Order: sequence, then C-alpha cells, then structure tokens
Amino acid sequence: MKKIIKLVLATLLLTLIPFPNASAQDEAPFVGISMPTQSAERWIEDGNYLVEQLEALGYKTTLQYGEDNVSNQVAQIENMITLGVDYLVIASIDGSALTEVLNQAGEQDITVIAYDRLLMNSENVDYYVTFDNFGVGVLGATYIEEALGLKDGEGPFNIELFGGSPDDNNAVINFDGVMSVFQQYIDNGQLVIPSGQTEFNQIATLRWDGSTAQSRMDNLLSANYTDETLHAVLSPYDPISLGVISSLKGIGYGSEELPIPVITGQDATVAGVQSIIAGEQTQTIFKNTQELGDITSAMIAAIEAGEEVEVNDTETYDNGVKVVPTYMAEPISVDIDNYYEVLIEDSGYYTPEELGVEAR
Ligand code: GAL
Repeated sequence: MKKIIKLVLATLLLTLIPFPNASAQDEAPFVGISMPTQSAERWIEDGNYLVEQLEALGYKTTLQYGEDNVSNQVAQIENMITLGVDYLVIASIDGSALTEVLNQAGEQDITVIAYDRLLMNSENVDYYVTFDNFGVGVLGATYIEEALGLKDGEGPFNIELFGGSPDDNNAVINFDGVMSVFQQYIDNGQLVIPSGQTEFNQIATLRWDGSTAQSRMDNLLSANYTDETLHAVLSPYDPISLGVISSLKGIGYGSEELPIPVITGQDATVAGVQSIIAGEQTQTIFKNTQELGDITSAMIAAIEAGEEVEVNDTETYDNGVKVVPTYMAEPISVDIDNYYEVLIEDSGYYTPEELGVEAR
C-alpha cells in the first residue's frame, strides 16, 4: 500500500514540477541569426532587436557576427545547422558566397530568411525582408535633383558618385535607382562627372568602408578638381559620406567661398545625423531597422502557426535562381528640416540626448 502511495505521489510530483530545460524549451523553435559585422551600429541593433522579439515569442535564438569575414560567416552558419536550428535569418557579408552552406540548410529543411541583403544564387532562400532598395537610390538622387534645381534646368553642376559594396545586391539596386533619376541630366549635360567614373564597378566601395571612400575621394580631387569645384556627391551610406567630407575638408571645402557639396547618405547613423545637424552632410535615408525585426518575427510566427506568410513583392528580387518572395519596408529621406520629427518624435528611434540636441 505504502509503495503504491509513494508511486502515485511521485507521478503527481513529476507532472506538477516543471523541469528546468524541460521539453517546452526544447520544442521551442530555434532561430539562428547570422549578422555581417559589429563595426556598424545598425547590425548590432538589428541583432539585439531580433533576439528580443523572437525570445518574447518564446523562441530560442543564437546570434553570431561574421565581422566582415566571409569564411567566418560560413563557419558560423554551419555551426548553427549542427546545433539544429529550425530557421536561419541571414544578413550576408557577400551575398553570393553562401550557396554551399545554404544547400546544407536546404537538406535539413531549415527555413531561410534573407535579412536586408538578398542571398544570391541559391534555391534555398525562402523569404526576403528588406527596404525598397531601388527606392533608396531614387530618394538620394531626387534629393540632389531638387537641391540643385535640375528640374528647372539649372546647371551644369559637377558631381561624383559613390556606391556600396559590390558583393551586396542592395548596392547594385541602389545604383540603378540613382541612375534612373540622373541619366537624363548626365545625357543633357546638366550633371557633369569630371572623373568620368559612371560605371558601378568604378564607383563601388568594398564593404561600404568609409576610409576606402575617403581615399577614393582624395584621388578624385587631386586628379580632377584642381581647377574645378565639386557641387554634389551621391553617397549611399553615412560612413561613406563622412569619409568623403573629411577628404573635402582636407583641401579647404567647408568655408563660405567653398561650401561642402550637397551630399547624401543612408542609415541615419548617429554620426551621420550629427553631421547633418552640424551643417556638413546634407541628407540621409532612415531605414527603421526595427520594422525589419518585426516583419521577420511575424514571418516566423506565421510559419509556426501554419498561416500564410505576408509578403508585398513577388517580382523584384531575383537572386539568379529564383524570385524570392519579399516584404519591402519604406525608406524615408531625412535632412535638417525633418530629422527631429522623423527620428525622434515619430519613430522614437533616437532620443534627443543620443543625437546631442535639446528636446523640443
Ligand atoms: C546595406 C544596407 C545599407 C547599409 C549597408 C552597410 O546592405 O542596405 O543600409 O546598412 O548595408 O551596413
């Protein structure tokens, strides 16, 4: 009798006491997040935000940074596959370098979401979450078009073009967006490019690196601008803009007689926005990366619930093997007139203190 009571008690206890690391945790969906680098503040925030959102849904996560080294990223993703992830969320360093490791993911039926940067040349990409990358290029170029009065026939103006990393599909699409606005003005002579560098492979900046852009600007200035003034620079990323501005200031731009050219950017980084506030960089593009995090976690939650995944584009993003179903978020152009409203008031992306400005 005693034995039976003990047994019943033990069984009762077993069902009542939640075991640490018990099955609920083990059965939770497991998401591997592979980010490119911690050298840019945005990827750190993207990574942390994704972890926060996914863990709030009760999922397990592992987050790794490749630090702009392609073989690191491959090894980290292989490791995630070995750990048994159910999902991979990948912002690639080189979008074309992951085909092999994505094959392994495909063999394990892992759902792969390309995060902000498209994964190229692979069948094993299920979804893509990004901003309208062509639109980013159009926003920057349109800003310059308006600032210079090109629509009203003003000109000619000297301009130089900078692109993002050649192994990042976003950079290629951004540039197409830029040229969709600029080509007509280059053709009719309102925009002049003294360096003659108008091809993507001439203007691209490996790894979106600001000091690489600064050296290129140094070379462009000494080779083409001893008798010419530069009026505008199309830059696709704030650190590139800041590198270009340093180069320009080095030869005297930034005075009343020789103002800093109109210069665009992207990502609304703290340093970029502070440069806008200081009257140096002219514009940037705000991409609320928390939106990407929300869309990504909603996609995973929908798959878990057996529901249809919401996408808003099934035509644009051809990775060379397939057109990847995509959710595209909207980028917003920001300058001195609207930064406070867009970055602080509306989105709460920054506090006034973070940007070093008085609260309004
Ligand atoms: C790109 C992205 C840009 C910028 C850049 C460098 O893929 O589109 O917004 O973040 O990477 O990190």
